[in-house]
Order: sequence, then structure tokens, then C-alpha cells
Amino acid sequence: MENGRGQWMSSFGFVLAAAGSAVGLGNLWKFPYITGANGGGAFVVTYLLILLFLGVTVMIAEIALGRHTQLNAYGAYKKVKEKWAWVGGMAILTAFLIMSYYSVVGGWVIKYLVDMTTGALSSNDPAALGAAFGGFIGAGASPLIYMLVFMVICFVIVIGGISGGIEKANKILMPLLFLFIIIVAIRSMTLPGAAEGIKWLFAPDFSKFTGAGFLAAMGQVFFSLSLGMGAMITYGSYVDKEADLAKSGWTIPLLDTFVAIMAGLAIIPAVFAFGFEPSQGAGLVFITLPAVFSQMPAGQLFGIIFFLLVLFAAITSAISLVEACVAWLIDEKKMARVKATSLTILGIIIFAIPASMSMGAWSGIHLWMGLGFFDAMDFLTSNIMLPLGGLLLCIFVGWVWGTEKADEEITNGGKLQWSYAPVWNFLIKYVAPLAIAVIFVVGLMPK
Ligand code: PHE
Repeated sequence: MENGRGQWMSSFGFVLAAAGSAVGLGNLWKFPYITGANGGGAFVVTYLLILLFLGVTVMIAEIALGRHTQLNAYGAYKKVKEKWAWVGGMAILTAFLIMSYYSVVGGWVIKYLVDMTTGALSSNDPAALGAAFGGFIGAGASPLIYMLVFMVICFVIVIGGISGGIEKANKILMPLLFLFIIIVAIRSMTLPGAAEGIKWLFAPDFSKFTGAGFLAAMGQVFFSLSLGMGAMITYGSYVDKEADLAKSGWTIPLLDTFVAIMAGLAIIPAVFAFGFEPSQGAGLVFITLPAVFSQMPAGQLFGIIFFLLVLFAAITSAISLVEACVAWLIDEKKMARVKATSLTILGIIIFAIPASMSMGAWSGIHLWMGLGFFDAMDFLTSNIMLPLGGLLLCIFVGWVWGTEKADEEITNGGKLQWSYAPVWNFLIKYVAPLAIAVIFVVGLMPK
């Protein structure tokens, strides 16, 4: 256990941990599908442009604010401008609420890893697999137990502290994740008939690329980079004062994009090779893919590797959400790390129970707009709290803290050359807030 707040052992450790936060379920089940559905290559190019101009800009801003204040998200805003503290508070609340359903999905991944290992998943009929999936997530006790297992793993890592727990876990899990996704991608692309899938993914089809695709790309950039909910502020607060923040701000999105594209190549060609249709979200990972693996030569082995890598991605994202809450309790409430982590995990479990139950016995209970607890939390965080948090962050860094002071933090007080500064200043003050405001408003309009 470390003294005080703790710090990353190295810049590399920080970059891996931040990439661990960014690389998650969003890369593995959302990116491949929305790419294919929104015109393939045309969507990828748009995604990359938005990532370059907005994603990197906001990433650098969050890390800089964290390192400048050396505090959790709430404390960071408060230290710069007392009146803005609530924005940081909202970011931490967002992280907490995301965990209420992320932990449930984490449990599903463990269950599928177990079933893949024991051979219980060897059906090639998506209808049967779909029924089995629906039966499991609505079963009550069993998904709750798997959720608890997932939370215990997060607990064990986060009580270990920054360098001893979170950094260490990422240093083991992330390289394995990179290796595994390359293995599965090669397997998938070398199957007979894989070309069809690669075409669906990347061939630019401008007739499918519409305004909606542009917005989908923007939303995906923010979610995938874990921006707008205090995780990168928190992780940035453990970076040492000599580190090159601008460089990290580029490397993390690069790694995240690499995994997203590899995920596309690992999943979609295999889906096409066995004559299935790519579906969205949970259906893709938990229903279509088990059918794919059951037909693939040595499919069980590749299935185990695949669910392991999904689990690693989920764990390294979840611990960043937990840490955003834990850091607040440590900094502001002066709690010891063990107590802060225990309380956070306990609170998340209490909220995860209705999230999980809303898939079964409590599916009739709707919070609003006909949404059960799980879907309501997903909607509230992804469509409202994340964009709002991102928008306020840009205004805060660009106008309240000010680009001059931010530049000083990013260049380590002028010690580092940063020729990108004028571009970054312009993007954070004008382009990013405007663009996010547009996604926010259009995203809320009824479809
Ligand atoms: N970035 C993660 C993903 O792509 C999701 C996430 C969002 C994690 C927000 C933490 C915070 O799946």
C-alpha cells in the first residue's frame, strides 16, 4: 500500500492504464457494428478525423486538469474555481452510475468465459443461443453472483493503490489483451469467406453515410475514450510533473483506435465466414459469436481467448470508474483507501442489483420513458451526463481555467516545446464545445 495519494511508477504505466480505461466494451461490441452499419470506410475516416480534432483535444485537457490540481474530479474543479465543483461532482456520479450496469455486463462476460471453457456454449443455432442468453440474464440469482465476482476482482485491484494495484493490473492485462486480439483477428481473417466481412466493414459506402453517422461517430469517440466522467482527470492526477502530457494525449487514443479496428477484423469476418448477420451490442458478443466459435476449427480455444480478452477490457475500464469515486472519498472525505474502496464497491453493488433484476423479474418496473433500471442508467449516462460533462469540461478548461494556464501545465512550465498549442487552444475554446453541444441536442431528439 502506498502513502498519500500515490503515483504512477512510469509514464508508460500511466499510458497503459489510461488505454485500459479507454479500451472496453465500446471497442469490442459497438465499434465493429456501427462501422459496418454506417458506411464502412467512410465512417472510419470520419471517426478518425473526429478523434484527431476532438478526442485528442479533450483527452489532453482532462489529463492536464488532473495533473495540475493533483486531485479527484470534484477537487480538481473546486481548486480552480469553487463555483464549478458541482461539475466535478457530476462527473463522479456519472462514473458511479455507469458502474451500476457495467458491473452487470462484466458478470455476463465471466459467465460466458466459464461456459466457453466447459463447453456449455457449443450450439450453432443463434435462436437457441439467444434464448439461453435471455434466460440467463433474467434469471435473478445467477447473474447477480457473477456480478459480485466481477466486483470482487475490481475491489482487489483498486485496494492495491495506484502503482501497486491499478498500474500493475494494467501492465499484465493490457499486453495480453493486445496479443489476444491479434491472434483472434488473424484467425478470423484467414477463414474462407472472410473477405465478405472485411468488405462490409471497410468498403466505403457513401450512400449509407448520413448525418446520423456523423453524430454516431462523435458519440463513439467520447464514450470510447472514457471522456466526460472524470476518469482521465483522476488518472491524470497521478502523473508526475515531468511527464509529457501532450504525447500521452496522442498515444492513448492511438492505442484505443488500434484495438477498435482490430476488434472489427476479429469479429466481423468470422461472422460472415459462417453465414451469420452482424447484430448490435449484446447480441453480437453473447449470441452471434458463440455460434461462430462453435463452427470454427479449434473454436473453443479461440472462444476462450476471446472472452478472456473481453473480460480484461471490461476490468481495466471498470477499475478506472471505481477509482474516480475512490479518489474523491480519499481526497475530500480523508478516508483510507481500503475503506473508500469498500464503500464504493458496496454502493455500486446496491445499484447493480436493480440493474441486473431489470433484465428479468423486475422488467416491468420502468423509471422513465418505458426504460427499466439498466437501460435508464445507460441512457442517462451515455446520452445526457457524458456529453454534458464533456461540454462543461471544454468550457471550464478553455475559458475558466484558461488556455494560458493549461498550456503552461502541458508544457511543464515552458520546459517542453509544444508547437500544437495554438491549434489546441482554438479547438478547446471554440470547436469542441460547439461540436459537443450539437451531438448533445441532436442525440436527445426523438428518433
Ligand atoms: N471507454 C470504455 C469503452 O470503450 C467505456 C467507458 C466509458 C469506460 C466511460 C469508462 C468510462 O468501453
